[in-house]
Amino acid sequence: MSDNDSLSKIVSEIQKCTKCPLHKTRKNAVPGEGPDNARLMFVGEAPGATEDRTGLPFVGRSGKLLVSLLENIGLSREDVYITSILKSRPPKNRSPKKSEIEACFPFLERQINLIKPEIIVLLGGVAISSIIGPWKLSEAHGKFYEGKGQKYFMTYHPAAALRFPKFRDIMMADFAILKTELNI
Ligand code: URA
Repeated sequence: MSDNDSLSKIVSEIQKCTKCPLHKTRKNAVPGEGPDNARLMFVGEAPGATEDRTGLPFVGRSGKLLVSLLENIGLSREDVYITSILKSRPPKNRSPKKSEIEACFPFLERQINLIKPEIIVLLGGVAISSIIGPWKLSEAHGKFYEGKGQKYFMTYHPAAALRFPKFRDIMMADFAILKTELNI
């Protein structure tokens, strides 16, 4: 990373990126969005169909649930930075491949270095295992993890809560822990 890196530079590099084969099947890359001084950064798994069509992160059903969880703790979408491990949609929303995660990871590292969020919220198993390492979600959720001077918070992916309603309650309780930690 050079000293004069910027979020807009990262966005344009992601939009042109051909480092993995997903560039051939995506409609739009989805770099992420939010304020460059956000206290909170959310990291999901990979763009879905709506994100691929619009180029914006978490604007489909999972995104609507994420926004309602945020609003429950007094935050709006505009207050936080939102991105995912992969910036391009895998065909038919299949799971990200290790090679795709490795190719995309430097973009996330640069986003983190620029934004310097107080807390990075890892949404679901792919975000957790890519950044921290394998950890059973049923044990990890609702917990903080500190590594290399960065604080992380782990919870489920909103897609899990859309599929199984009990995870919505668990995520609401996790977000309440986040609210307390942020003092908001
Ligand atoms: N799920 C994700 O992990 N990321 C998005 O941007 C949308 C859905």
